[in-house]
Amino acid sequence: MPDPNHPPGFSRRSFMKTVGVSATVTTLSGIAEAHALAREQAEADKLFGPGPVAIAFTVNGKAVEVRVEPSMTLADALRLELGLTGTKVICDRGSCGGCCVIVNGKLANACMTLVSDVQGASITTVEGLAQGGKLDPVQESFLRHDALQCGYCTPGFIVATRVLLNDVPKPTLDQIKKALGGNICRCGTYTNIFNAALEASGQAPIMDQKGASE
Ligand code: FES
Ligand code: FES
Repeated sequence: MPDPNHPPGFSRRSFMKTVGVSATVTTLSGIAEAHALAREQAEADKLFGPGPVAIAFTVNGKAVEVRVEPSMTLADALRLELGLTGTKVICDRGSCGGCCVIVNGKLANACMTLVSDVQGASITTVEGLAQGGKLDPVQESFLRHDALQCGYCTPGFIVATRVLLNDVPKPTLDQIKKALGGNICRCGTYTNIFNAALEASGQAPIMDQKGASE
């Protein structure tokens, strides 16, 4: 019967042998390694807190720096530290798209992005889409198609549509639906949103406000 104090493959003798080998390795090379690790950790602690740390990035073409706890989300940093409240926090768990922003050209949920992860990044929020006092064509199109009711989801939809059109200048309706699949409109304004996206890409809207094909 196996001895529970000495499981198969493990004995006090093999334990002592392992410790002996480890100790030798530590003696020979581990000290330098431990110093390197300690230096890395010190750098990481400087960047990642746990207290407030300085994090610098670009928002809408402007260099900014916030001093916050690194566990803060990008959404909170934008809204609470930088006053950019166009980015909405609705579900706060990555399932509605209300907080969509563009990080280095890619769509991102700001509620699911730590501010410590955007060190040095270039971020565009809905406030940064208009240029020279002129709305982005996507914004114009959302207005023209009345693609909002309460408007709370609208910034996220507009940013997600902008990213889609940057990548696919003339998307099909199916591509639009797929690209905006991470955005939820509780008011159910989808028909007008899809039409707005089509028109912003220079294509004719294909559904009227009741959803019938033209
Ligand atoms: S608030 Fe970020 S995805 Fe809903
Ligand atoms: S317009 Fe109200 S949630 Fe979309």
